[in-house]
Amino acid sequence: MKIELNSSNKAQAASELVILPAFSKGKKGTDLDHWSANDKKLFAKVKSSAHFTAKAEQTFFFNRSNGVTVMALGLGDKKKLSAETVRKSVATAVNQLKGSNKQIEFEINHFLVEGSKDKYLQAVLEAIYMTSYSFTEFKNSEAQTLKKVVIQLTAVDKKIANAILKSAKKLGESIQVARDFVNTPPNVLNSEVFAKRVEEDAKKISGVKVKVLGKKALEKENCGLFLSVNAGSAYEPKLVHLTYTPEKVTKETKHIALVGKGLTFDSGGYSLKPSTSMVNMKFDMAGAATVYGAFRAAALMGVDVKVSCFLGMTDNMVNSHATVPDSIMTARNGKTVEILNTDAEGRLVLADVLNYACDHKPDEIIDAATLTGAVLVSLGHEICGVMGNNQELIDALNTSAKECDEYMWQLPIIPEFHKDIKSPIADIKNIGGSRFGGSAKAGAFLENFIQDGIAWAHLDIAGVGDSQSHLPYCPSKGASGLIIRTIVHHISGSAN
Ligand code: BES
Ligand code: ZN
Ligand code: ZN
Repeated sequence: MKIELNSSNKAQAASELVILPAFSKGKKGTDLDHWSANDKKLFAKVKSSAHFTAKAEQTFFFNRSNGVTVMALGLGDKKKLSAETVRKSVATAVNQLKGSNKQIEFEINHFLVEGSKDKYLQAVLEAIYMTSYSFTEFKNSEAQTLKKVVIQLTAVDKKIANAILKSAKKLGESIQVARDFVNTPPNVLNSEVFAKRVEEDAKKISGVKVKVLGKKALEKENCGLFLSVNAGSAYEPKLVHLTYTPEKVTKETKHIALVGKGLTFDSGGYSLKPSTSMVNMKFDMAGAATVYGAFRAAALMGVDVKVSCFLGMTDNMVNSHATVPDSIMTARNGKTVEILNTDAEGRLVLADVLNYACDHKPDEIIDAATLTGAVLVSLGHEICGVMGNNQELIDALNTSAKECDEYMWQLPIIPEFHKDIKSPIADIKNIGGSRFGGSAKAGAFLENFIQDGIAWAHLDIAGVGDSQSHLPYCPSKGASGLIIRTIVHHISGSAN
């Protein structure tokens, strides 16, 4: 699907459907002042238009005499307009038109309120990219798409509008790449294929270098915890290490490291998951897909920040070599870990990968992982859990999340949680004494592997990673692609 700008006052002749935004005036009806006299007349002529009150996400169709269909798109009260209302309303429109295979034109001048023009234009584009996505690789039927979306816009300088379009495309396509990775089934996307696909994609980006560590290299690196998760696998573990270096680097250039949990399937291992909990565990690599999506977008945008990305890939399977509960393994940093539950595997992989990332001396590390079911209990499907060792970094991520209209909430890692994961016979154990506070106890576990002086934040995306049925710009089932926008916003804002 193509998105194009039309900076004239007239819709393109080839556009088969035109979207006209409309505002509500409460009991006083609709605000269509900005519409042409002709459109207003045609709208009024259709009897049922009286029911259209232009509340947010409401739509109404009528036809012009030349055969062009008009979709009136409600945006609610103009004074209360927000970027998220724009996103949701545009998403609702795209969802209704997605299967039409039409060229549509979207007249957006009239809701680009002074002061927020760029922000709203970006929100429109984000919504179009995020909503038009569908995962059809394994379907025999044709993909349902829009042929082309033309944004009719005179209210923003052409150059600025084009720059926003360009960067929205980079972000939008990176979200789609991440979603594709998550949705691809585990019989296809094993750790070896995942690493190859990331490598092939990343190689094409200017300023990006790729290094992939396989089993031998991980043995050399003493990644005992990571390897213990891979012990029952038919595939090699892979640590994909990507570096993006901006064109100009000075002493002040910030270095951000992203780390992702890339479990291509989590059966639970010998602590086997019950069958209903095992379904969808292909999505246990959403952390890796999320940070890769953010890395990809930031690198394509050419941000003035050095960004490293470390993806720990394996599955968690069962065979006679697989790790059994009661095992004690040694981590890359020398700490010994009593593995009491092989289903708490994500933290084992992350432990070694985080420690490896620390060796590269970043100013800060952000990891993303579908780490705990407990985060769904505490924060639901809607909110991402954030925790770490540095309040400034956590605050910055929370601010970015707010700016991007993504929900994030801090969970505290208290000293008691550290105490709870002490083991009588090893340095620590991989689960706490009870299920309670499970997400932050996992956070406490991870903290053991962060080297002194490095700021670190952990994002538990087990809830927000998929099935966002409340958001019209996310598929109700499957990968959400959420949190990528927040991480990219944070990285972009870190440029000196
Ligand atoms: N991948 C799961 C976490 C998960 C659960 C993500 C449900 C999405 C939905 C993780 O590896 C896991 O199994 N965690 C255990 C930890 C427990 C054994 C301490 C959990 O949450 O039950
Ligand atoms: Zn698990
Ligand atoms: Zn897992």
